[in-house]
Amino acid sequence: MADKEGLKISKDYGVEIPFQNQGGFYVKGSDNLDWGMKKHLANIFDPKSGNTVMFAFDHGYFMGSTAGLERLDIVIPKLIPQIDVLMGTRGALRSCVPPQCRKGVALRVTSGSSMLNEDLSHEVVAVDMEDAIRLNADCLAIQTFIGADGQLSSLDNLSRAINAGLRYSIPTLGVVAVGKDMERTDRFFKLATRIVAELGAHIIKTYYCDNFEEVVAACPVPIVVAGGKKLPEKEALTLAYRAMQGGARGLDMGRNIFQSEHAVEMAATIRKVVHDGYTDSEAYQYYQDLINS
Ligand code: R5P
Repeated sequence: MADKEGLKISKDYGVEIPFQNQGGFYVKGSDNLDWGMKKHLANIFDPKSGNTVMFAFDHGYFMGSTAGLERLDIVIPKLIPQIDVLMGTRGALRSCVPPQCRKGVALRVTSGSSMLNEDLSHEVVAVDMEDAIRLNADCLAIQTFIGADGQLSSLDNLSRAINAGLRYSIPTLGVVAVGKDMERTDRFFKLATRIVAELGAHIIKTYYCDNFEEVVAACPVPIVVAGGKKLPEKEALTLAYRAMQGGARGLDMGRNIFQSEHAVEMAATIRKVVHDGYTDSEAYQYYQDLINS
């Protein structure tokens, strides 16, 4: 029975103890999935590093034309060589992404709000599973709004996508949204990431926070970290480094790449942090060498 009284404070996350149900497949929490699911996850997470560089350019689904993404047809092809997974809408993919690019696809399948709305938490699943299959999507990206007005409908969207994806072995990426009134604390992210994972999402996208390693330890599937608003490159690389050090299995940055004056070089540098273990200072030096060469 649901009971909010007398809840104990969670504290023993065993952050030093590796995930205990790994089996033979390298993606966290996925060893018991079938071959088709594992194949899609292997299109997302590099088998050598176990990590992924996702590139989020789905902003247009509620923001329309976004600074840095005015011309998807020009911006996206230049960045593709540095990216493992393209996170976009079906409209952007079909119109502006060369199908021969051989990259993973995280397909944004929710919609329904826009920047003109005060409350962005009300969405629907707008893409049929059949169309996700036609696009060879490697995962379905669903926005979730824990603690917001649209919590119920967003978890309904998530569950519907997971149920449909399971029928065709397509994983679901649960995106943990934070609104202007929602806290960005480890307490919130432990709650939200765990709810989304226990509902069956195979990958979670969330934000970096204090005690991030505890958020990771308590989440039984891989976490990729969102970039958020544009930061100076040095700060964005420190965020990337800390996230990876804290146990993230990748980054899903958007504005910190496409709004950089040197977007291609920034993406190439993020790749070094994600796949080659560069520290933030090594990465910034690498970035500066690239832009000055
Ligand atoms: C999540 O809310 C959506 O996928 C965004 O469009 C995307 O994650 C934003 O990426 P960033 O915050 O790195 O620009």
